[in-house]
Amino acid sequence: MMRRPFIAGNWKLHNSVRDSVALALAIAEGVKPGEVDVVIAPVFTSLAMVASSLNDAPHIALAGQDVHWEDKGAFTGEVSAPLLRDVGCRYVIVGHSERRQFFGETNDVVRRKVDAAFRGGLTPIACVGETLEEREAGKTLEVVLGQLDAISKDLAQLDQIVIAYEPVWAIGTGRVAKPEDAQAVHAAIRERLAVHAGAEKAAAIRVLYGGSVKADNAKGLFSQADIDGALVGGASLDATSFLAIIESAR
Ligand code: PGA
Repeated sequence: MMRRPFIAGNWKLHNSVRDSVALALAIAEGVKPGEVDVVIAPVFTSLAMVASSLNDAPHIALAGQDVHWEDKGAFTGEVSAPLLRDVGCRYVIVGHSERRQFFGETNDVVRRKVDAAFRGGLTPIACVGETLEEREAGKTLEVVLGQLDAISKDLAQLDQIVIAYEPVWAIGTGRVAKPEDAQAVHAAIRERLAVHAGAEKAAAIRVLYGGSVKADNAKGLFSQADIDGALVGGASLDATSFLAIIESAR
């Protein structure tokens, strides 16, 4: 099964509109069209300007970093899937560990956001991952597969989802998972996806790794059988390093 590599840059809470546009254009200029799906996720306030400056770069797609579970209403401060579509997004990150950790998102909330994304015509990039404490207690698979079950159960569009496995202890710490250790979790994720979606569909779902992915460790990760790309934080804020990661995925 050939899965098209997928590299997403999560810019988190960084970059003014001007800096976002400059970074997006630098990435657009360096990416060769084809072979790799490239996605960037700027802050909400930069999305509209980035979308219009990328007009001539259909080979780069936009993602929101989060989405509310309702389409509209009295939800001060939130952004909905239809509004993300409206501004030019095709994807949205849901269930990032920072959302789970700092904003109290439960598996149930994450699932509602996955449903909202699909309902609004967006492809969710749904994140799962264990904390250091959970890993050390031998609970990695229990936690990760529990999160995955909440996302996947009775989800009609499961075959279209993108999953990101991001061990929390590897995010922003410079401590990347060993490629074989990441692969073991990715293989377990794909096995569980097969339970929910059937083996054929599970074999087509992209499962990304995230957590301190850099130009110099990307190749080792991407050479693993079930690692189909990356969700990149810090290294996506610099065009040269992000482009080098994209190149490693080819
Ligand atoms: P990092 O972040 O690459 O800076 O570790 C990854 C992520 O949070 O998606």
